[in-house]
Amino acid sequence: MKVSIILAAGEGTRMKSKIPKVLHKVCGKPILEYVIDASIGAQVQKNVVIVGHGGDEVRDYFKGKGLIFENQPIGQGAPYGTGFAVMQGLKHVDDESTVVILCGDTPLIRKETINRLFAYHNEGNYSCTVLTAILDDPTGYGRIIRDEVGNISKIVEDKDATEEERQVREINAGIYCFTGKMLKQGLSKIDDDNAQGEFYLTDAVEILKNEGYNVGAYVIEDPVETHGINNRVQLAFSEKVMRQRINEFHMLNGVTIINPETTYIEDGVIIGRDTIIYPNTYLEGATTIGEDCEIRSNTRIVDSRIGDGVCIESSLIEESSVGDGTKIGPNAHLRPKSNLGKNIKIGNFVEVKNSTLGDNAKAGHLAYIGDAFIGKNTNIGCGVIFANYNGKDKQITKVGDHVFIGSNSNLVAPVNIHDWAYIAAGSTITKDVEEASLSIARAEQVNKLNWVDKKGLR
Ligand code: UD1
Ligand code: CA
Repeated sequence: MKVSIILAAGEGTRMKSKIPKVLHKVCGKPILEYVIDASIGAQVQKNVVIVGHGGDEVRDYFKGKGLIFENQPIGQGAPYGTGFAVMQGLKHVDDESTVVILCGDTPLIRKETINRLFAYHNEGNYSCTVLTAILDDPTGYGRIIRDEVGNISKIVEDKDATEEERQVREINAGIYCFTGKMLKQGLSKIDDDNAQGEFYLTDAVEILKNEGYNVGAYVIEDPVETHGINNRVQLAFSEKVMRQRINEFHMLNGVTIINPETTYIEDGVIIGRDTIIYPNTYLEGATTIGEDCEIRSNTRIVDSRIGDGVCIESSLIEESSVGDGTKIGPNAHLRPKSNLGKNIKIGNFVEVKNSTLGDNAKAGHLAYIGDAFIGKNTNIGCGVIFANYNGKDKQITKVGDHVFIGSNSNLVAPVNIHDWAYIAAGSTITKDVEEASLSIARAEQVNKLNWVDKKGLR
């Protein structure tokens, strides 16, 4: 049985934040979730997450994901350190288990790497295998110390290292594979006699080695995967790497991204082939975009479903759905629960909220459509306002098929405009309009001839 112990109890002091470190987001997803997903992706059956600082928040976030949580006691005088953290998960480890230990603050780790670590561990018949990386700047990391024949003999923390040991560029990624029995045996002998007064997990490696067990070190191909997050500069670095990975994934799937550097796509967004994404766009949350779309600059789409062949220009779309062939923008805003049919046109400065629009409907300019049902082939003129709020309640407006609403009209809810009705420009409609009728609801025009001369104004 493969078991993971994922360390996520640390305080994350250097983040200077109210939010637990591992819940800070990279490309829209908490740091810790990437680690958990990599572990699940590597077919680890049992995932044990060690929580402490902000533990309740972390548990809450991951509710229903099938994880096991263990609390590390935190506070004045409580023991501390990665070794002590791992001990909290040992009750879920059998002697025969293969245990992978992961850090909750290294989101760039890939499931393929965890699988390679398992394979290396098994093939070498090691009691413990450490994942290592060669870095140009190893500052801050534990260093891998090898013996004369090149085998790993111990790990020295940066703060405990001698000047000579500090020169070593091979570092401990903080990811390990242990056989269950060896992990328990190694941990039973560690102490906190070091520069930080912590129980170091890394000491278990040296202990096993000294007891004559076979200890391995697997050097990772791409060191960026070991990048840990301790502060917000490192958070931004992980974001950058992850953004590039996500964008490359979509490009290799047939999506054109004009400038990946300025295209922000969150993890989990789905995009169809031959869609073109222009610079400075944000695609967030549970968003799906179809094929052959154009998502033009300065657009943000959140938790929305966009059909095929849709063109969106500098607009904000939230929790809405958009049918095939529809055109939106520039500068439109679909607020939550806007459901647009096919081949619709929502133009400049049009705001839609909690409304359904049938196929071929049009609202080209400067309109507010709220709490409405609008039929097919209906035209909403420039400047039309759906007055849905009487200061107390929100009310519904229904507009049928083939309706023409003249410019600058107000539809005061609740009101029904039936199929084929015409509303004259500038009307304020407060009563229902029957099918195929013209409604004019404005003061009649009066022209006073020669008024200017009579007044002597010219
Ligand atoms: C650790 C390693 C170091 C390695 C580095 C890689 C030790 C002693 N050092 O150092 O060799 O190069 O990771 O990133 O293991 N945590 C707990 N409970 C604790 C302490 C830590 O859950 O009591 C968690 C933290 O939340 C974090 C992880 O363990 O997710 C690593 O802890 P951190 O303090 O960041 O260790 P490093 O100093 O980075
Ligand atoms: Ca760290």
